[in-house]
Amino acid sequence: SVVRTPMIIGNWKMNLDHVQAGQWLLEYAGSNEGWVNRMEASNTMVNRTEIGVLPSFTSLLAIRDMARKTRMTSELYFGAQNVSELDAGAYTGDISAQMLAALDCRYVLVGHSEQRRYHPEDDDTIDQKVRVVLDAGMTPIICIGETKLGRDNGIGIDYALNQLVAAVRLLSAADMCKVIVAYEPVWSIGTGATPEPPVIESALADIRDFINATFGADVAEKVRILYGGSVKPDNASAIIRRYGIDGFLVGGASLDPRQFAKICHRV
Ligand code: G3P
Repeated sequence: SVVRTPMIIGNWKMNLDHVQAGQWLLEYAGSNEGWVNRMEASNTMVNRTEIGVLPSFTSLLAIRDMARKTRMTSELYFGAQNVSELDAGAYTGDISAQMLAALDCRYVLVGHSEQRRYHPEDDDTIDQKVRVVLDAGMTPIICIGETKLGRDNGIGIDYALNQLVAAVRLLSAADMCKVIVAYEPVWSIGTGATPEPPVIESALADIRDFINATFGADVAEKVRILYGGSVKPDNASAIIRRYGIDGFLVGGASLDPRQFAKICHRV
């Protein structure tokens, strides 16, 4: 069976300008160095976790350059928090997938609940965004998750699954293998409240079941599914220990490089 590489992605949201982003990376490199050396010294075959951050558009270049300078390019990947579904043209204020690929972005977040809420982002643009990200050779991280209202009305996971159905409707099975899904219950984002680990496990199992039913077992085995919402160094181990959880999308706790490194090393 396929071994999925665990991954931890820090979503900085609208925080850290390009100067602060550079400082973040230096601090992260410092706190990470000891850990990487220890892992190498212990000589164990570790399934190394894939680690990345999603800075704001204006900080991407600083992160790329600083990662090169500190030789962190294979230890810390990066990507963008959003993208336009359109090609180049008269779209003032938008950023294309090609522009992000030219900056060496590995990932692009698509459909984050904050984009869905504060911008006119709907299923019809999200599916196209997933498409343009793949076409530009990058990895889409598709965010899905129910609101508190949805959860209270007992339509939690179904709501999230409907979002996923819409987001992947332009994809072939081969495309789907490259996608990452992040389950983020909206009521858990930035609130300190998380579902109980077994509840997260069963939500992610439902998502994998959907992928299995739609794209087949081979694809379902390969797609990485992350959990997001109030992940901290304190709760990361208990959640990741559950079956079928491939990693985290971390918001608030990723702004502090030491806290973020702690979460990464726990996985
Ligand atoms: O995308 C990650 C995010 O929405 C979770 O945020 O602050 O609850 O970790 P936070």
